[in-house]
Amino acid sequence: MGALLVTGGAGFIGSNFILQYMKKRPGEKVVNFDNLTYAGNLENLKDVEKDDHYTFVKGDIADQGQVTEAITRNGIDRIVNFAAESHVDRSILDPLVFIKTNVLGTQILIDCARTAGVEKFVHVSTDEVYGSLSADDPAFTEKTPLDPSSPYSASKASSDLLVHAACRTFGFPGLITRCSNNYGPYQFPEKLIPLIISNALEERKLPVYGDGLNVRDWIHVEDHCDGVRVVLEKGVVGEVYNLGGASELNNLDVVKTILKHLDKSQNLIEFVKDRPGHDRRYAMDISYVEEKLGWVPTRTFKEGLAETVEWYVANREWWSRVKDGRYRKYYENQYGQRLST
Ligand code: NAD
Ligand code: TYD
Repeated sequence: MGALLVTGGAGFIGSNFILQYMKKRPGEKVVNFDNLTYAGNLENLKDVEKDDHYTFVKGDIADQGQVTEAITRNGIDRIVNFAAESHVDRSILDPLVFIKTNVLGTQILIDCARTAGVEKFVHVSTDEVYGSLSADDPAFTEKTPLDPSSPYSASKASSDLLVHAACRTFGFPGLITRCSNNYGPYQFPEKLIPLIISNALEERKLPVYGDGLNVRDWIHVEDHCDGVRVVLEKGVVGEVYNLGGASELNNLDVVKTILKHLDKSQNLIEFVKDRPGHDRRYAMDISYVEEKLGWVPTRTFKEGLAETVEWYVANREWWSRVKDGRYRKYYENQYGQRLST
């Protein structure tokens, strides 16, 4: 067996995936290919950085030369693509980088993977490609038409279509996972749950967009990572698999639950101007993946959130270093090179 290339492995979900995968499949070689944008943090991978089965390559998925070299030098036969610009609010401020990484980068990965004869390519996508639901609508299935609302979700929908087209046109061995909102350790504190926990611990205001009643389906990151592994190992080429946590909650309830865990006052909540194009509700029908591959999420939101709040309380140093920018120095110190941004 060749090695597994994980793109975006220094980000939130990618790093959790590598840590979990290397425990579950200890004999396998894993190559982390990541260009360390603001969201990439090699401190997440301290536990494996000296492992002979782990290699880090700094590279951009939108750079054909760098991708080809990483694939051929390391004997890559499977790829999981997590690399992306992932934050909706940033995509509203600056859409172009989302197109470059999420759309162009995915096509370049497909081209390089085809040339190298890669055997499986799992493209990690999101429920946001399906658009917004009303309160009474049925949950998204894999057959729900794509109807993205933000530059982020439009770029992810585009990348999904490129993988789909490559499967049809070239017999490309692509598979797509679409997952709901993740939470857990090592999430960049710009996303709702780590932002609220870390701000509350610092007694800072907690911005809630609009009326706070937008609904998301929440899944613990380890459940998502396990789902991606199951799709990599057992999924059928050309298929799409929805993954989700079976836990729909509105944002205000999430924030209040966090405050309760931390024993902090609800006075910290501050209602702020709504996000433009803010999707009202996401909900996932995950019956297909359960029926076909036997995957189900294992944690309830109640358990997962309690665990996650404890993790951020115990790992204040990790998120403090992210919030004040010290994490950017880690790469320089470990690898002796300066990051350009
Ligand atoms: P993240 O922003 O935390 O991490 C993204 C990683 O990709 C970072 O390490 C970054 O350095 C790297 N990256 C960005 N541009 C790159 C490029 N051009 N070349 C190489 N590496 C690059 O994101 P995340 O939350 O871990 O999400 C990972 C994937 O999962 C994304 O594709 C996202 O769309 C998808 N997803 C996320 C969620 C969620 O709730 N966070 C839910 C469903 C799907
Ligand atoms: P986010 O974590 O950005 O994920 P996504 O937009 O991809 O679902 O946001 C989750 C929900 O929380 C979303 O409805 C927007 C809302 N939100 C706030 O109310 N305040 C915030 O500061 C952030 C970042 C998000």
